[in-house]
Amino acid sequence: MRNLQIPQNLFIENRKRFIQLLPSASLAIFGSAEKMPRNGDQFFPFRQQSDFFYLTGIEAENSKLLLFPDCSNQQFREVLFIESPNEQKAIWEGHQLNTEEAKTISGITQVLTIDQFETVLQEVMNYTSGVYLNNNEYIKYFSDVPDNQSRLIQLLKQKYPLHAYKRAAPLLEQLRTIKSKEEIEILQTACNITGKAFERLLKLPLTEKFEFEVQAEIEHEFTVNRANGHGYYPIIASGENACILHYTANNQQLQDGDLLLLDFGAEYANYSADLSRTIPVDGKFNDRQKQCYEAVLRVFKKAKVLYKPGTTIDLINKEVWKYMELEMIGLGLFTAEDVANQASDKPLYRQYLMHGIAHHIGLDVHDVGSKFEPLKAGMILTCEPGIYIKNEKIGIRIENDILITDNEPIDLMAHIPVEVEEIERLMSTWSTLST
Ligand code: GLY
Ligand code: MN
Ligand code: MN
Repeated sequence: MRNLQIPQNLFIENRKRFIQLLPSASLAIFGSAEKMPRNGDQFFPFRQQSDFFYLTGIEAENSKLLLFPDCSNQQFREVLFIESPNEQKAIWEGHQLNTEEAKTISGITQVLTIDQFETVLQEVMNYTSGVYLNNNEYIKYFSDVPDNQSRLIQLLKQKYPLHAYKRAAPLLEQLRTIKSKEEIEILQTACNITGKAFERLLKLPLTEKFEFEVQAEIEHEFTVNRANGHGYYPIIASGENACILHYTANNQQLQDGDLLLLDFGAEYANYSADLSRTIPVDGKFNDRQKQCYEAVLRVFKKAKVLYKPGTTIDLINKEVWKYMELEMIGLGLFTAEDVANQASDKPLYRQYLMHGIAHHIGLDVHDVGSKFEPLKAGMILTCEPGIYIKNEKIGIRIENDILITDNEPIDLMAHIPVEVEEIERLMSTWSTLST
């Protein structure tokens, strides 16, 4: 990672909070991510499994964490297993995480090598009454590819069939949704880097650039500011492409007169920001674009204040969809009478706004957290209303990241330009169309 060192206290506290949620005599085992195969002898760039990072701060593959606060053998109450030193690997790949470094990063004092894992496991399985294992339980996640954790689940169930296995994911969700002070600072840094990249774009002539050239400018700004890169594949969508919600081809040439929808977020220290802005390719919104943009901006401003403890994402969605429905009537997309007569399972606004307004962010851009759980102080969520009018080549989304507090919500991206005049003014440094 390129980020500045994160204090080990973050990971120590995360483990402390996790073990407080364990019933007595419970054992929890977590696996790191592994290198994802690409082809030939190539692998995709390594990204740590988010929960494993949350509990350890460790970036290495082939590692495991064992937490057993009541273990009769005191030396196995908290154990990190990392790869043994491997000279051959060091020749090809360079420096390998060593025991001392692993202790410093994680704050775990008992660091063993991974080849000792099965022996330790055999012993601790004798003392436990229940084993917590982790799995990717994200509600929209489907994959046929087994990962390190699902293989660990299989291995344990085969080898120790009479133990009681439990789900660690709901406990981690409970913890990860509430961001600590350190995490808020890290996410603020991710938001700031993301904002810098957006401001860089506003100062560059965009006319006739390709969407991938815009992507490259963002990546430059991310890299020089110590971000890992993107927290998710960026959406650089001009013209009609902006109406494709998760457009990622990013290969079309920008046309004067079109809008450009940008949805990107820097990943800093494994935490991802999530920003959307929509700008005119030639530096000036035309009347209709401005009318639609200001409708979304009004809704965005009204929506942000809903982010209060006690409400839910589900309630925010329903409220903000109503705001957007009214704006759509104002934009002439349908009439109030059409709404009165619409089928209740096919509301008209849905033709122009097909997505929700909020999701948690954190170690994953679509971070853990249910849309039905009441919001609490310390949660960070996106606020992202939009409108997609394909036959007018208009796709607009405005998205900032909002911290819930016991008082007013804090917009972590409030400093990033969003007003029409501000965007046009910044773009006017190169645009011949703006005044
Ligand atoms: N970046 C995808 C989203 O806004 O949810
Ligand atoms: Mn989002
Ligand atoms: Mn987004």
